[in-house]
Amino acid sequence: MSSQHESFIEPGPSSVTYGTYLKAHELIGLQHELTLPKEHDEMLFIIIHQVYELWFKQMLHELNHCEAMLKTFKPMGVIRSLKRLESIQKVLIHQVDILETMTPDEFNRFRSNLNPASGFQSFQFREFEFRLGLKNPSYFRFFAHDPVAKQRLEAAFQAPTLYDVFLRAMADQGFAIPREVLERDVTQIHELDPRVTRVLQDIYEQPEKHYQLYVLLEGLIELDELLVLWRYRHMQMVRRMIGDLTGTGGSPGAKYLQTTLSKTIFPELWDVRNQLGKNKPYA
Ligand code: HEM
Repeated sequence: MSSQHESFIEPGPSSVTYGTYLKAHELIGLQHELTLPKEHDEMLFIIIHQVYELWFKQMLHELNHCEAMLKTFKPMGVIRSLKRLESIQKVLIHQVDILETMTPDEFNRFRSNLNPASGFQSFQFREFEFRLGLKNPSYFRFFAHDPVAKQRLEAAFQAPTLYDVFLRAMADQGFAIPREVLERDVTQIHELDPRVTRVLQDIYEQPEKHYQLYVLLEGLIELDELLVLWRYRHMQMVRRMIGDLTGTGGSPGAKYLQTTLSKTIFPELWDVRNQLGKNKPYA
């Protein structure tokens, strides 16, 4: 056994180690249950939310990268980040399985201690939504006592969205993106513009000619679709856990979550499917 480890390095007192680099001691010291006597499942509940927050951080990091790559028109760089976002989103959806190993009864043993905390108050999730164009100033009031969150949300609210940056890049490449779209008020939700659909239709009808853009567009629609799938999975998990009861954040619970399923990020990417299917004989 000892000979097997002979060539391994024994870190010195000032070496960078796995633990110091990743701040492992700090990280595993960040889980503090509220319930006394302790409830076994509260640890899972805290860890799963913290893991989600770490992935949200990485997703925001990838959005920054996508925008930087679009601004210098490097489609491969955008595609790589979109692929990574897709993989993370799939993990986010599957992670719900772990939470569902907790029974409603086990959850109810500590649920009341969380009041009025809720995932609804995740500023990174809202920032992600804002950066994707789902801007809604009515969320600000939930962060009135968190200046860092408020500042980040305000910055995301005022900034062009990923889609704005994408459409600007397309215009720079000579695609006919209308001026009104490029100069729109970016604090508003982007409304479907049939002229943008026509530009996308050209790409979808000639994928070989515009292969990188075609793959990029499919990456964007994947992002949009997977966000809805996460919302659906979370909503069903909520129904399984608390039925139709009010959420700890004060909303009508699953009924509220149902209303979020119709949120769409890239309307023309969905609309282009209508155009592609028009006037085509049924197979
Ligand atoms: C037992 C587990 C969970 C339950 C019962 C639950 C319940 C709820 C409910 C009822 C809402 C609506 C707002 C409210 O009134 O509170 C909500 C929103 C939300 N939850 Fe959860 N949740 C759970 C786990 C999670 C996890 C693990 C995450 C991961 C971060 C999460 C993220 C969110 C987000 C982002 C929202 C806002 C959705 C939106 O407004 O579009 N939740 N949750």
